[in-house]
Parts: sequence; C-alpha cells; structure tokens
Amino acid sequence: MAQNKIHIFDTTLRDGEQVPGCKLNTKEKIELALALENLGVDIIEAGFPISSPGDFESVQQISAVIKDATVCGLTRAVKKDIEVAAEALKGAKRPRIHTGIGVSDMHIKTKFNTTREDILVRAAEAVRFARNFVDDVEFYGEDAGRADLAFLAKVVETVIDAGATVVNIPDTTGYCLPHQYGEKIAYLINNVPNVDKAILSCHCHNDLGLATANAISGVINGARQIECTINGLGERAGNTSLEEVVMVIKQHESLGLYTDIKTELLNPMSRLVSDTMRMPVQPNKAIVGSNAFAHSSGIHQDGFLKNAENYEIIRPEQVGADSSKIVLTARSGRSALAHRLQKLGFNFNRNEIDVLYEAFLKVADEKKEVGDEDLKTLVADNHPEVAIA
Ligand code: KIV
Ligand code: ZN
Repeated sequence: MAQNKIHIFDTTLRDGEQVPGCKLNTKEKIELALALENLGVDIIEAGFPISSPGDFESVQQISAVIKDATVCGLTRAVKKDIEVAAEALKGAKRPRIHTGIGVSDMHIKTKFNTTREDILVRAAEAVRFARNFVDDVEFYGEDAGRADLAFLAKVVETVIDAGATVVNIPDTTGYCLPHQYGEKIAYLINNVPNVDKAILSCHCHNDLGLATANAISGVINGARQIECTINGLGERAGNTSLEEVVMVIKQHESLGLYTDIKTELLNPMSRLVSDTMRMPVQPNKAIVGSNAFAHSSGIHQDGFLKNAENYEIIRPEQVGADSSKIVLTARSGRSALAHRLQKLGFNFNRNEIDVLYEAFLKVADEKKEVGDEDLKTLVADNHPEVAIA
C-alpha cells in the first residue's frame, strides 16, 4: 500500500486553551508554539484573533517566530473576524485562515435561526473573502458529525469551489461512532465532485471517549489531516489526543500512513504542556501517562521480565518516556522482587527469595507501593550479613 502523509494540525493553543484554567499568556503560547514546531507538527492553530486583544497579540507574535509550520487563526464566517485574523497572521511565512459555520440542522435552526440555503451562501462568502488575504483557507462545518450527509456534501463542494484548500469535518459534540465517522468521510470522498482539490480534515471531540478512534477511522477512509491537541486537551471531554493518533499511525504500518512527528519528543512535550497549562495528565493516559510503561501485577511482571514485548507494544524510548517500571505492590510476584533486589545489588537464591517474599508481602499489604528503602530494610532484617547502607 502506498504511504500517505497525514498532516498534523495542532490546536492545543486554541481548542486546548479553551479548557477552564488552561489560559495562557503570550510568552507561554510562544514557548509552546516553538516546541510544537520542533515536535514536527504541520499546522499550529495559534488562536482566535478576534476573541481578545491578548489572543490577537499571541497569533501575531507566533506568526513572527514560526519558520516552517503553517500558522492558523480561527474565525467565524464573519468578515470582521476574517479581517482581524488576516491582520494577526500578516507576519506568518505560511498563514492559514480557518473559517466556518454550523452545518447541522440543529445549529442552522437553533443557533443561526436560518436555512440551509443561507448557510451555503455565508460559507462560500467567508471562504472567498478569506482568499483575498491568504492562499490557504480552511473551512470548518461545525457539528458536521450530526449534519445531513447530502447537505454536508453540498457544503463541501461549495466551499471548495469558493477556494477552500482544506475542509474540516468536525464531530463537534463527539457523537459519532468510529464506523459512522469513517463512512461520512468516505461518502464525501465518493460524492463531492471537486473533493480532489482539497484535503479533508478530522476534528473529533471526546465526549464518548471515541475521539482517537474516530480520527483514525477518518484517515483510513481518506481524510489527510487530523486536528488534535497534546494530552487530548480541549472543550468539555477534550479533543483527539495528538500523541495517540501519531502512535496509532506509527505502530500500525499496515495502514500505509505516516506523520512527520518526532515521536521521541512526545513525553517531554506532554510534560511541557501539562506544566505550562497547570493541567495534570491522568496516570493511565496512553503514551504519556506516568503508568503507561509501569507493570505491577505478578503475571505481567514475570512475562515482561522474560520478554518486554509480552506486555509492551511501544518501547518507552520511542516516545521519550522514562524506562519501563516494575512497580512492587502486594500483587507483584517473586520474579519482580528478585529483579528489583538484583538492581539494588543483592543476589539471592530461589529459597532465600521465597522467604523474603513472605516478608515482602507483609510490607506490601501495609503500603500502596514498596520502594527501594523498604527493600533495603527487608534485607537488613532478614539477611544482616549482606545488607548495605
Ligand atoms: O469543535 C469544533 O467544531 C471546533 C471548530 C471551531 C473547528 O472547534
Ligand atoms: Zn473543537
């Protein structure tokens, strides 16, 4: 199967920053934008310039420092928004305006109190207007996940005719099932006559925990851009997590897809975003959680120590994580105990380990995790002849 590049559109600084408590100042945004560029993202959505003077300034300054990545600014399908975004993006080497409007009947009726026909006109006008300022215009059809498919196809055709280079198909409410989202993309690829003149983009929210699965289903069915955030930050339950989609694509070579992300920077990038946004990462988060490479049950530890691939499908160094951890708890087994004691310089035979293991279990039942100091005490109590300080 031919290899196909998936463009990574990072929206940590826009959709991610919408999370309550994650607000960034311009200096912090610039630092993250430079780190994102170094990570290898193709597009950085730097902000929503009309939303505040601070966001305007951030987009302007990010545009000035970013050399290789495309810098994107969000707008509504409103002329003033587009003018302000164009002004903020003036210094960018590769500027993109991301404009759009709601396309589901729910949004058309209850948000805009208008008709499908009017939405088509406004969408085309916004794209045409934005093309006066930049060559790269992305259109988003908000709530495309719940939109009527034939109407969505008409919207996509209309905005491509108007000059859109990328068309974003957001599952704004995170409602779609993976096969439904994939079928939506496939339908657009097969039914929009001018679809070959633009890239289709996946922007999937995580309300049902399906954001990563939906984005992957989208690219399997022909989309060539994924919109995502570091640590999956974003409105409500968040967005597609960048580290997850990148590693799915990398680990599943049979998909025939690739990204330009330097995967060994994923964990440092995750920590930088978490620290800067003051938003901790859940320990069991895929790829970047503190337990992503930790093994604590006896069965797993024994299998892992025999061959790491028994329980790890990614090597920690591939994603810049600390080396795999054998965590000692009351669920651990003898081989994990022997392994950790060996690392501390103690070589006990099988019988000695059996005795130590009984003593270890008593400590482990008292504690959540048994650490090196506990092990040294255990050895000192049971084998004073070999205990070291
Ligand atoms: O979720 C969404 O629909 C969005 C658009 C503004 C792209 O974030
Ligand atoms: Zn969104």
